[in-house]
Amino acid sequence: MILLTPDSKLQTPNSNSPNAIIVTMNSLVCFSNNTFMPLKDAGFPVTDLGVQRGYGVFDFLRVTDRVPLFQDDHLERFFNSAKEMRLPAGKTREELKEIIAHLIAKNNIPHAGIRLLLSGGTSPDGYEIVQPNLAIVLQPITPPSDQISQQGYKLVTYPHQRQMPHVKTTDYLMAIWINPWVKEKGADDVLYQQNGIISECPRSNFFIVTQSGTIVTSAKNILKGITRKQILLIAAEQGMKLEERDISIEDIRVAKEAFISSSTKRIIPVVKIDDIVLPPFSNNSVTAKLYQYLLQREKDFQINQ
Ligand SMILES: Cc1ncc(COP(=O)(O)O)c(C=O)c1O
Repeated sequence: MILLTPDSKLQTPNSNSPNAIIVTMNSLVCFSNNTFMPLKDAGFPVTDLGVQRGYGVFDFLRVTDRVPLFQDDHLERFFNSAKEMRLPAGKTREELKEIIAHLIAKNNIPHAGIRLLLSGGTSPDGYEIVQPNLAIVLQPITPPSDQISQQGYKLVTYPHQRQMPHVKTTDYLMAIWINPWVKEKGADDVLYQQNGIISECPRSNFFIVTQSGTIVTSAKNILKGITRKQILLIAAEQGMKLEERDISIEDIRVAKEAFISSSTKRIIPVVKIDDIVLPPFSNNSVTAKLYQYLLQREKDFQINQ
């Protein structure tokens, strides 16, 4: 476990919590304002369009044993998000890779998340884009377990469609607003739907496995997750049946399995959605197999770096 504290003390594992590494805001180095600086000193001005109007894009990738997983996929999506939102990134892909490598080496935290944030930037009239602000932040994370969650997630559906769904914008307004309601319902996350058609969770993609063993994932009105992409590649390589299409609530009612995917969670089985109880998790499930293949894919990626 890694804990991030705002004070200046840097603690390593101790007798109270032997596995905890306490990292301080003071000790972390980030890239902001075109330079490397302590995270505590980094910030965008209040005149930034991101701060004033929530205009910005980002991407988030996981670092495992100092390797930024599926980095090219994340950078491609980052540049695509920036282009779609008319925000010049101001750096090339190679430059971003160098900055990321430097942050990993400098911060010396083997398991981390890297957030690339491109904010609207300061605007004289508070409306027009002039010069976006780029920050790249490494933050310690608890790596996902190498064992799939047996317990799984309970989801509650809510009618919502993210704006510009194929772009990773910084707009998580609904997700954060709805979170207390999700907890009140005893659920682990919200699953967005519109007119009975499922899109995704706020930070993960959604899949079902039909009674005939076909993996189905939502095709439209979603962010195309990098983990989702890996799952599609695995399914194709393994000759598994796969469909990208609309998923209705009725499809879930008759599904054999359901799961969500994301860079930080890998794959989590879903055991309940609203009043629909799915069959309990099994080690022989398609979901469990995909998890093992995904784990292997991450290991192969690391070896090939
Ligand atoms: C809206 C949305 N959908 C899906 C995902 C999953 O994407 P990835 O697998 O790249 O983490 C995310 C990640 O945060 C997200 O924000």
